[in-house]
Amino acid sequence: MKRKFGVIISALTVTSLMLSACGGQAPAQAPSENKTPTAPAATENKPAPAPAAKPAASGGKVEIFSWWTGAGEEAGLQGLIKLFKEKHPDIEVINAAVAGGAGTNAKAVLASRMQGGDPPSAFQVHGGAELNTGWVAAGKVSPLNDLYDQQGWKSKFPKDLLDLVSKDGNIYSVPVNIHRGNVIFYNKKIFDNNGVKAPATFDEFFAAADALKAKGVTPLALGDKEPWAATMLFENILLGKLGPDDYNKLWTGNLAFDDAKVKDALETFKKTLAYVNKDHAARNWQDAAQLVAKGEAAMNVMGDWAKGYFTTDLKLKPNEDFGWVTTPNTGGDFMVITDTFALPKDSKDQASAKEWLKVLGSVEGQDVFNPLKGSIPARIDADVSKYDVYGKATIEDFKKSKLTPSLAHGSAAIEGFATQANQIINIFVTQGNVDQALKSLKQAAEANGIKK
Ligand code: GAL
Repeated sequence: MKRKFGVIISALTVTSLMLSACGGQAPAQAPSENKTPTAPAATENKPAPAPAAKPAASGGKVEIFSWWTGAGEEAGLQGLIKLFKEKHPDIEVINAAVAGGAGTNAKAVLASRMQGGDPPSAFQVHGGAELNTGWVAAGKVSPLNDLYDQQGWKSKFPKDLLDLVSKDGNIYSVPVNIHRGNVIFYNKKIFDNNGVKAPATFDEFFAAADALKAKGVTPLALGDKEPWAATMLFENILLGKLGPDDYNKLWTGNLAFDDAKVKDALETFKKTLAYVNKDHAARNWQDAAQLVAKGEAAMNVMGDWAKGYFTTDLKLKPNEDFGWVTTPNTGGDFMVITDTFALPKDSKDQASAKEWLKVLGSVEGQDVFNPLKGSIPARIDADVSKYDVYGKATIEDFKKSKLTPSLAHGSAAIEGFATQANQIINIFVTQGNVDQALKSLKQAAEANGIKK
């Protein structure tokens, strides 16, 4: 890892729980599911037998809050729950997942539960601003320093990752994975049949897109029914146009949102939108990824949970059915998305919750979860042989890439800004007004305290 970005996160302004956790916005729709545990999904990576040592907690209850439901999301969680139950048959597990990609609905449900004094035992939260300027600043989560010391974890996670889950010398959550956000997944047969090569630059991307369009193939699948998917496409273009140093400067106010490079990125984003499927606004991320899986579109820019969806759910083979390449001009960069779990201060049965965190932070837990989820382990000592060719390559890339935090997935900026950016990008996708979008982004940054 070459770039330490923890500083960026802690430099952001601290605001209230309402601003940071809810973004002042009600969920787009009522949460559709509040799942109770179902039978564990079939997993290829069978967890090892439970150790002989007796767990500390007994007869307790743990309620796990996440947004991992359905296609491509749930299998990893179920793998973890299965492992936890093997280790703690006496602790009841409640899976309180709320459907909606990137926490679209879950974050608002969580905020109202936390405010209403009904916190879950442990909840999914992205490392970075979402954790630190949200729940930590609001005083709602417990420091986990003792747990880290007891488990010897401080030397087991990359320092940059620990910085993302720390504030003022305390560690506040346990990272279970690292997802990469700057990836194009493509249908290999479509590329091969049309003589198209994986694009490395913007010029190559548009040349490939033109060639595919000329053959009647939809070049790029987008599913921005939940607006974060369009923000994600845009942030990867931003990274490609600005480079990692200037991209990182955006989040500390050291580069203004009306900079000429941001304008260039927005114009390129607009150009890119001319190559997407017409029904993008009606699809979620899985529906868009499925277009590539079925050969109805050639490429999809998505975090590598799409890889989990392809291999775990759809049983596609990497390098046979689908290929991948970093988004244009980001070959040496790694857009980091890390899922972590935090412990609410006033939750009941903290002992059982800590047992859950121990499983999440263990090598065994990470190696059950990540091969199914499409992510790489957060720990540095995980068993690389458990990962497929994509996972192995990504583990290596992480070590040598420049790291950049994702805006669409909570790490780069305070939740209030992320919410407004989603709205601005959503309007831009339909109206295409570059100057208006630049002005709105700049105003939103100022309003949310993103300044030098
Ligand atoms: C991200 C999360 C991933 C995946 C994705 C799509 O925010 O970090 O684990 O769940 O949303 O829902």
